[in-house]
Amino acid sequence: MAGEILRRRVPFVALLLLLCFWAASANGSEYMKYKDPKQPVNVRIKDLMKRMTLAEKIGQMTQIERSVASADVLKSYFIGSVLSGGGSVPATNASVENWVNMVNEFQRGALSTRLGIPMIYGIDAVHGHNNVYKATVFPHNVGLGVTRDPQLVKKIGAATALEVRATGIPYVFAPCIAVCRDPRWGRCYESYSEDPAIVKAMTEIISGLQGDIPPGSRKGVPFVAGKQNVASCAKHYVGDGGTTKGINENNTVIDFHGLLSIHMQGYFSAVIKGVSTIMISFSSWNGVKMHANRDLITGFLKHNLRFRGFVISDWQGIDRMTPIPGSNYTYSVETGVLAGIDMIMVPYNYTDFIGNLTMLVNKNFIPMSRIDDAVKRILRVKFTMGLFENPIADLSLSHQLGSQEHRDLAREAVRKSLVLLKNGKPGYEPVLPLPKKAAKILVAGTHAHNLGYQCGGWTITWQGTSGNNNSVGTTILDAVRKTVDPSTEVVYYEEPDAGYVESSKFSYAIVVVGEHSYAESYGDSMNMSIPEPGPSIIKNVCGSVKCIVVIISGRPVVIEPYVAQMDALVAAWLPGTEGLGITDVLFGDYGFTGKLARTWFKTVDQLPMNVGDPHYDPLYPFGFGLTTDPVKEN
Ligand code: BGC
Ligand code: BGC
Repeated sequence: MAGEILRRRVPFVALLLLLCFWAASANGSEYMKYKDPKQPVNVRIKDLMKRMTLAEKIGQMTQIERSVASADVLKSYFIGSVLSGGGSVPATNASVENWVNMVNEFQRGALSTRLGIPMIYGIDAVHGHNNVYKATVFPHNVGLGVTRDPQLVKKIGAATALEVRATGIPYVFAPCIAVCRDPRWGRCYESYSEDPAIVKAMTEIISGLQGDIPPGSRKGVPFVAGKQNVASCAKHYVGDGGTTKGINENNTVIDFHGLLSIHMQGYFSAVIKGVSTIMISFSSWNGVKMHANRDLITGFLKHNLRFRGFVISDWQGIDRMTPIPGSNYTYSVETGVLAGIDMIMVPYNYTDFIGNLTMLVNKNFIPMSRIDDAVKRILRVKFTMGLFENPIADLSLSHQLGSQEHRDLAREAVRKSLVLLKNGKPGYEPVLPLPKKAAKILVAGTHAHNLGYQCGGWTITWQGTSGNNNSVGTTILDAVRKTVDPSTEVVYYEEPDAGYVESSKFSYAIVVVGEHSYAESYGDSMNMSIPEPGPSIIKNVCGSVKCIVVIISGRPVVIEPYVAQMDALVAAWLPGTEGLGITDVLFGDYGFTGKLARTWFKTVDQLPMNVGDPHYDPLYPFGFGLTTDPVKEN
């Protein structure tokens, strides 16, 4: 009898359930655990993963460049991430609104998919939000290492996060925690120091970008505090700064102990600080491409260090695994993914990537467990940072871009990043600080009034720019004019000849010369010289007037032949948009405090030469830096 009732009721109950389900999904309210922010992240990941098809999973692993992205592409291929390559912007001098609209447009494509998984937009904000017009441009890392001030660098991280979020972007490919061991490397300015201890200390920038990881958090788990912070990316794992002769993307020859004690140091602290992602280096370690190095990616980073965020490839990084990039793409995809790379910065030919990876999984060359590991990590970052709850950006932070507060912070960083290498000829009085009141002074040199050079590579465009039309900021010339007494006549002459200088009766001269802008391999240099007319300007000016030479460069350069002619010498690195930080110190409102975070060599044939080396014989040793006292009335 009871059985009879049950049998009659079952279809009824089933019908009722079906009805409820239909009603719930018709008004969109079917309860999906992964959409519930009250559920623990692991529960959300598990729930979402069990709903995902292979195509949806592979889409998550795919990062494409904005120039090939559209809402449609994101939707059709379930793309998990979009990036701006160096200088890749929605429009020249794009406004905050242009940026936010572009990011939201892509995001709407991602959200319109069956599961509505948000994409994550990434950009190289390596010294402030450097691709963006009107952003505050901070000194490059080579200058920040000089400050020895991790708290300052943390503040720079927090300010950068706000400027990046202002444009609707939640993810940055920074910090670069390379330990540059040879300044011939074109990326040496992206490195804080040749000393791993300084690089390690400066990973504090991660806590600024992402926010402070709560005490007691599980080590290795990614963390982003909220909508005013961004996911960060420690790069380039590992050994990027140790390549032979400093050749970019080349081979780092060193034993495992050396790799750990020099190049790995920053990663230990980055992982502990909850860094969300880690980018693989183009370079090789002892002949093995890092993008293929399963032992170091899956073994060391994921298993030993227990890193729980996602690993991202570099730009066409898997393609460059073969001597002719992309010549065996199937091999590249297989090897890179099996090595443990979770997201691939494709960045253009995404159909090729998706096609290859799908085939490799279907034919069991890549196990499903590897795909699941990758997707789990990507989703963990997206859930943790609140991307599911806040996928669409608004304009509420637009006032943050290039704000006065951030420019003041950058100015402070500039002051603290300067290194005073010479102050007065032997037997003479120091020449710095300079008097603000003087009859007539000269400002000369190719870099005195050039914001593009002052900012260096990775500014507005990939390679950087020249001139003053691309960024908003203060050149050194502007800064001198703003700082001196109104009665002081300032003459600006970029390339004065010796006769002119001699006959003009200047009280003193400030000469600003240095390197032109460059990025990545374009910056590799075997001669490390200051290009002409830099040296001629030094000679023409310093020949007949008291001269203060300021060098704008991404690294120590050949300077020894000219030092004797100078009265004072200041290394200013690549200071960014806030030129007033330089005059603050030249004119004594603040003292010089910076200490070299790199060895300044005498001649190129000494390289590589780092502090502690047996053949150490520098022009200025690591840690060197003269000081001055601030002056009250000037
Ligand atoms: C992109 C950069 C990228 C580089 C890699 C350039 O075209 O703009 O973002 O780093 O290629 O080679
Ligand atoms: C660089 C990375 C950068 C990426 C995206 C690569 O060429 O090596 O540092 O994050 O391009 O622009």
